[in-house]
Amino acid sequence: MTAPIDIEFTVNGRPVRLSLPPRMTLIDCLRDELGLTGSHIGCEHGVCGACSVMLDGVPVRSCLIFAVQVDGSSVTTVEGLVRPDGGLSPLQEAFRDCHAMQCGYCTPGMLIAAQGLLDENPDPSDADIREAISSNLCRCTGYQQIVEAVRLAATRRNAGADNG
Ligand code: FES
Ligand code: FES
Repeated sequence: MTAPIDIEFTVNGRPVRLSLPPRMTLIDCLRDELGLTGSHIGCEHGVCGACSVMLDGVPVRSCLIFAVQVDGSSVTTVEGLVRPDGGLSPLQEAFRDCHAMQCGYCTPGMLIAAQGLLDENPDPSDADIREAISSNLCRCTGYQQIVEAVRLAATRRNAGADNG
């Protein structure tokens, strides 16, 4: 059996130290070692986007990354998108207000993809939004409400809301 590897990284701003099997994926580490079950497991081979998290501010597929690869990095999961007081972020509120989810399985990955877009481009066009979520699969909504939610979040943030 391969010896565990010691790593240190931050998750949602919290420092963690773990000793992990070298081949444990980041999604399994987040869910099974840290109890962060907001990120979902779908295809487990990089296609659906349900497992998306931010790695040093960039959306990535946590099923395609070994946990030991994030040593020294900063990871943000869907749980980390909330406001400091624990309330929903403007993006999360917009998903709620636009009914941008049905079963909710894709929603954590959609939120991460959308947050990545808004962090990079505060005033995206609908084409930009569709491009940003284009590699996240949703079996329920038809995507239109998701596009509307991201647009609403951008509009609200540009009108003065924080943390969008
Ligand atoms: S579970 Fe990672 S992309 Fe589908
Ligand atoms: S809301 Fe069900 S998969 Fe997107």
